[in-house]
Amino acid sequence: MAVDMRTNLGTLELPAPVLTASGCAGYGRELAPYVELAALGGVVTKSIMRNPRSGRATPRMAETPSGMLNSIGLQGSGVDEFVANDLPWLTEQGCRVIVSVAGGSVEEYAEVAKLLRGQPGLVALEVNISCPNVESRGEVFACDPDAAARVVAGVRAVTAPDVPVLAKLSPDVTDIVPVAQACVGAGADGLSMINTLLGMAIDVDTARPVLAGVTGGLSGPAIRPVAVRCIWQVRAALPEVPILGMGGVRHGVDALELVLAGANAVSVGTAVFGDPGACPRIQAELAEALAARGYARFTDAVSAAHPR
Ligand SMILES: Cc1cc2nc3c(=O)[nH]c(=O)nc-3n(C[C@H](O)[C@H](O)[C@H](O)COP(=O)(O)O)c2cc1C
Repeated sequence: MAVDMRTNLGTLELPAPVLTASGCAGYGRELAPYVELAALGGVVTKSIMRNPRSGRATPRMAETPSGMLNSIGLQGSGVDEFVANDLPWLTEQGCRVIVSVAGGSVEEYAEVAKLLRGQPGLVALEVNISCPNVESRGEVFACDPDAAARVVAGVRAVTAPDVPVLAKLSPDVTDIVPVAQACVGAGADGLSMINTLLGMAIDVDTARPVLAGVTGGLSGPAIRPVAVRCIWQVRAALPEVPILGMGGVRHGVDALELVLAGANAVSVGTAVFGDPGACPRIQAELAEALAARGYARFTDAVSAAHPR
């Protein structure tokens, strides 16, 4: 019997549980030749900032064992261009669009969210709090529960009440639970986890860092156990909070692992670079993996690894 793959992130109902991960599918156009975007749970956009940015200097990608490093630096055309051109295109495709917002200050995050308010097609916001706070010596918002809460509260205040706000957490903290609790306390309707881990690679022949930006975000299968651990810990502490899980998902069974740990839906990032059709493939493999294990509904597997 076919598995019922419907799920939800709080009030947001999704026909299927696999989404793109922010930054790994641009604003959707690159994937459209390979993927029927409307058949996915949703499209999470590259993080959008107030103004256009060219990102960091190259090289800004490096392969690592079972993963990769990137230091793209939030390249993008800015929110006005996104609202004028990219969001209408995504909406025309029939996708559920989750817009990732970013900023260098609480005010910038809120300004971007305000400019997105009321835009057709937008079903949720994902707040990428893994950005350096330009007003606090570059400390990353997601690494400080108070700073993370201020960003979430600022975005929540200007976002329509029926549009869920998801806070995207960083694994680069000693304890992720207080950050998760602070975000939920500030009005986050759900949590996305995990963003990349800060890493670095050195070219042993030139004795120089491989990335022009020196450090970068580590992603791919290498980080999956960290994602499973973070989702598990937050699910145990906050049993009711919707979680969009991501980190190293390459196959359906990888997605299932995140779901069993507590994810209500799963985003796929790095795998898309090697296989543009990864999202629908993983979604189909996940349905097979659930059926093979006797699950009638996707939602029956959510958090199933936790003691009952
Ligand atoms: C090239 C690249 C660019 C990314 N850009 C963003 C971004 O703009 N905003 C964001 O929140 N996360 C960004 N991420 C992080 C991913 O959304 C995801 O959280 C992370 O890579 C873990 O998932 P994965 O192992 O499936 O890639 C980026 C990741 C990669 C590899």
